[in-house]
Amino acid sequence: MAAINFIELYYEAAEQFAGKLGLDVTHAASESDQLKRAYGQGAAIDYSSPLRKYAYLKSLAPRHAIVWRKYAQMKSRTWTKSGAVELMNSIGAGPAPEVFGYVEGCAGSFSRLSVVCLESEPGWAEVGKIVTELYRAKTGRDVHLSYVESVAGLQRGAFTLGSLVISDLLRSDKCDAVMSAVQGALSPAKGLFLDTTKCRTPDGNEAFTSDYARPFIGHKWDFVNFRRDGMIEPMQEEVSAEEKAMSRRLEYSLDAGLLWNGYDMNF
Ligand SMILES: C[S@@+](CC[C@H](N)C(=O)[O-])C[C@H]1O[C@@H](n2cnc3c(N)ncnc32)[C@H](O)[C@@H]1O
Repeated sequence: MAAINFIELYYEAAEQFAGKLGLDVTHAASESDQLKRAYGQGAAIDYSSPLRKYAYLKSLAPRHAIVWRKYAQMKSRTWTKSGAVELMNSIGAGPAPEVFGYVEGCAGSFSRLSVVCLESEPGWAEVGKIVTELYRAKTGRDVHLSYVESVAGLQRGAFTLGSLVISDLLRSDKCDAVMSAVQGALSPAKGLFLDTTKCRTPDGNEAFTSDYARPFIGHKWDFVNFRRDGMIEPMQEEVSAEEKAMSRRLEYSLDAGLLWNGYDMNF
């Protein structure tokens, strides 16, 4: 099967989601602008509105999936046992772009992949179902997502992803509490988190996201600074290539804000 285009996958998911809800998307572009501005502020972001989810699916999720795919490729990630059943978790998954990006970027194969997504916004589960069904239909890969709201539902020992969630937890002042609970529920486990280099905390200060990730990174850690390791340009090229390869009109520009870092976690 041809390589999947993540912008098209998430556009289709957004349109199916809007169709199911009969959502009026006239103001989706201004919703997307508001959402992007919220990332620079020190307050929790509310993802509960369907229009916000729609805007997220079209303007942010594809970029995150592309970055995760490129990261996995550049770091030569592979599945542990070729052709086996694989288990993973994702923390703060939203519409799970990290899962599909990571899956597409990893070399090797699996027979089935079951991912438990920890997510506090219950409405993302329906969106995750739509994206998963589309992804399975397009790729034939046997990927299953289930959404839980408590760390008790996570799969202990399973490889765990986190995409832009540490910074999100910092904005709501919940980083220590949630990450400690995640650590307790997973340990021993390994994980990979990608996040913005800096974020804003509720006191209005700008903070290095790595300061908050550090307690959860084990002794043998691999901290990847996208800028220092020359990853920003390849990521930007990947996003532009995906935009050019689209068979439909691009509605939202995706190539912005790739000042990210990678954290190999030991829970
Ligand atoms: C910036 S979004 C990232 C979504 C997705 N991982 C991505 O890369 O596009 C952060 C997500 O974390 C979720 N989140 C925030 N606080 C949470 C918590 N305490 N427990 C679980 N999920 C949480 C939000 O609902 C949101 O979906």
